Amino acid sequence: MERFDIDRFNKRCNSLSNVSNKNRNMAFDRFEWPKDIDENEWWYPRELLTVYGSDYYDENNIEQLIKLSKAEMVNQFSLNIHNERILINEILMQIENGNLSAEACDYLHHFVEEENQHMWYFNKFCRKYYGKVYGMKSASIGKSDFAEISNYLVFARIYIFEEVGDFINREVSKHQGVNELVRNINKAHIEEESRHISFGKAYLQHKGEELLATLKLESKDALKNSINSYMRLMVESSYNPSSYKDSGYSNCLKMRSDLIEFNDRNGRNKKFVQSPSKFFEKIGVI
Ligand SMILES: [Fe+2]
Ligand SMILES: [Fe+2]
Repeated sequence: MERFDIDRFNKRCNSLSNVSNKNRNMAFDRFEWPKDIDENEWWYPRELLTVYGSDYYDENNIEQLIKLSKAEMVNQFSLNIHNERILINEILMQIENGNLSAEACDYLHHFVEEENQHMWYFNKFCRKYYGKVYGMKSASIGKSDFAEISNYLVFARIYIFEEVGDFINREVSKHQGVNELVRNINKAHIEEESRHISFGKAYLQHKGEELLATLKLESKDALKNSINSYMRLMVESSYNPSSYKDSGYSNCLKMRSDLIEFNDRNGRNKKFVQSPSKFFEKIGVI
């Protein structure tokens, strides 16, 4: 595999900053916000529903499935809001700690500006049409005594979360059966996230080469475990007992564990983290 040295990394940062500069799409006036949305519209494709294909999926109870499609889209938007807020804070700290190149810092300011707009439209949608944003369990990725590993994990976490989001955005945005505003929001998010993901991969490959050359075997294993656990956490966060409860299901904790197990067995859970898994394997980190 071709090496990703600092010059190549800085060049990637510069070109991403240029594209962000040229495509300054202010989200604040990008969408039409109707007064309300028809109750019978789907917000999340049925094939993406966590219940799809399981005993909890009942075609005859279409109203409940539509309710769940709203709740599960709002759950994904809510996860974006919480994760983006946490990650913006961490990125600003990384800029301040002085370990990044000037080129990387420049790009990360664009990154923060873009995430701020995403949080605005996700928040607006959830509160206007659903009346709330779901909470999120605190999601910390293992911190290490080694600053280099902790810093690496900050960017690993951002990258994993963005790849999972990108998979969902792409599935929702191409689904004709889903409400148009929901599709447009998912589509808008793909455009900027593809640059964030490109930055993440460049950073993780470049820093990964440096790290792997210096770490002892047990630290490499700890890094690998942290990354695998965060991918698992991202998969499991799609299963929210509160969204089951709001859609009229009962025994929601059991439902959650049944569905996680069901989708582990049929291989659906793996699809959400297929891209980051392949990437980390390719660069030798997991
Ligand atoms: Fe975003
Ligand atoms: Fe992002």
